[in-house]
Amino acid sequence: MPEIRSDFITDYDGLADKWWDPRGSLAPLGWIARARATFVPEPRTEGATLLDVACGGGLFGPHLAGKGYRVVGVDLSIMSLKQAGQHGFDAVAKADITRLPFADESIEVVTAGQCLEHVRDPYAVVDELCRVLRPGGTLIVDTIADTKAARLMAITVVENLPLPGRPPKGTHDHRLFVNRERLLAVARSHGVELKLLGLRPSFSAGLGYLARKRDEVPMVPTRSTAVLFVGVGTKS
Ligand SMILES: C[S@@+](CC[C@H](N)C(=O)[O-])C[C@H]1O[C@@H](n2cnc3c(N)ncnc32)[C@H](O)[C@@H]1O
Repeated sequence: MPEIRSDFITDYDGLADKWWDPRGSLAPLGWIARARATFVPEPRTEGATLLDVACGGGLFGPHLAGKGYRVVGVDLSIMSLKQAGQHGFDAVAKADITRLPFADESIEVVTAGQCLEHVRDPYAVVDELCRVLRPGGTLIVDTIADTKAARLMAITVVENLPLPGRPPKGTHDHRLFVNRERLLAVARSHGVELKLLGLRPSFSAGLGYLARKRDEVPMVPTRSTAVLFVGVGTKS
């Protein structure tokens, strides 16, 4: 398995003031967070816990306001967690997503946005996400597929074009991209039948963003899951 750069988390600490910059290098994560929120179900009980793993600067937080969840975030970047604590998270904690400090079957909704592609063993993380998920609870993951198309788009194009919202070079390592079949199989082994859906930025809104006519680009569904995709499933 490929190694993670030792300075990977420190990089996110250094980027912490960029989380909420609509034209900064983390901006597309905000667009994806808005799309992710559309998959969050109504809570079965008021105040049930939604755990957002690798929550970063908390871009998901505002989209959960008023839904009735107690929103908890974990990440390894302390500077990012400080941001999350100011943006709609009820509690944040420093924790490694490979070893979550939560009891088995204790969480109603577990979300993992744009993080499986940054760990050595994403399938072990999915084991962990499913471990803490309650029966009847919902798992939502979004990540990048291990395809040539994803390598071309997410690295060759997105990390190299001088465009606003471009992540820093070296953010992605294609060897860490996620195999969809294996992801499905691992989740299924825990009773979570994931349905996959592709996501891409709206082309017309993307042009408007580049022309500075708008500050956000909606993500739209696409049949192909070969680049960016979301997986949603309920634990039986
Ligand atoms: C691309 S950002 C995604 C942040 C957030 N989920 C979002 O979509 O805006 C990746 C995040 O994963 C965190 N991260 C990477 N490896 C981690 C690990 N092993 N445990 C906890 N957090 C991790 C980083 O600190 C960073 O905040």
